[in-house]
Amino acid sequence: MRLDVVTIFPEYLEPLNVSLVGKARARGQLDVRIHDLRGWTHDKHNTVDDTPYGGGPGMVMKPEPWGEALDEIIASGEGEPVIVVPTPSGRPFTQELAVELSEKPWLVFTPARYEGIDRRVIEEYGDRVDVREVSIGDYVLAGGEAPVLVMVEAVARLLPGVLGNAESHRDDSFAPGAMADLLEGPVYTKPPEWRGRGIPEVLVSGHHGKIARWRRDEALRRTAANRPDLIERADPAAFDKKDREM
Ligand code: ADE
Repeated sequence: MRLDVVTIFPEYLEPLNVSLVGKARARGQLDVRIHDLRGWTHDKHNTVDDTPYGGGPGMVMKPEPWGEALDEIIASGEGEPVIVVPTPSGRPFTQELAVELSEKPWLVFTPARYEGIDRRVIEEYGDRVDVREVSIGDYVLAGGEAPVLVMVEAVARLLPGVLGNAESHRDDSFAPGAMADLLEGPVYTKPPEWRGRGIPEVLVSGHHGKIARWRRDEALRRTAANRPDLIERADPAAFDKKDREM
């Protein structure tokens, strides 16, 4: 998969050299290209923003550098990328969207600073390619770079061969499947006792059926406590009689 990021803070994307994403790059599974938006400015101050039409606080990112950057990047590859525009006004970033994006060959991220990008840029590229405006949550950050880190990590770990154990995302919270719509329950490792605290005995019982039931009960408990909205929204058919006894 190819990923392009256009930003005025290329150094903000340095975490993409580390850990899972960094290793996927080193292995050639991810081709990540970070671009400095100011490279597509032509004035001596490398201006990327200006005051908003209609007045109001803050600054708006000018359309011309974005247009030149996106034209050049789109022309540099084969086929069409999906352009992902991080903005608190976008559609929610969910595991479902992460899965969908992980199936695309090429993503271009356009993290903005200030009050956002001139609307005409979104319209112009929306007429030409698939453009997604995406929010990572109901809070406002100073820019879209941290959301890009979040989205790239969520997408990259879904790519074939990127996670060590292909099964490790099967039971993820929000992953489709048997535990759909439930949060993952607690996990334990050695030692068997730590600061006087033991582990749930069922986990060393060797009884796979009981372990699976215990995991599901814990997932139900945690979901009811932390995300009651998920239980309310779930298909009633997703719950069996034992679930209801919880
Ligand atoms: N830019 C600023 N806040 C954001 C958010 N919550 N999601 C995506 N991009 C953003």
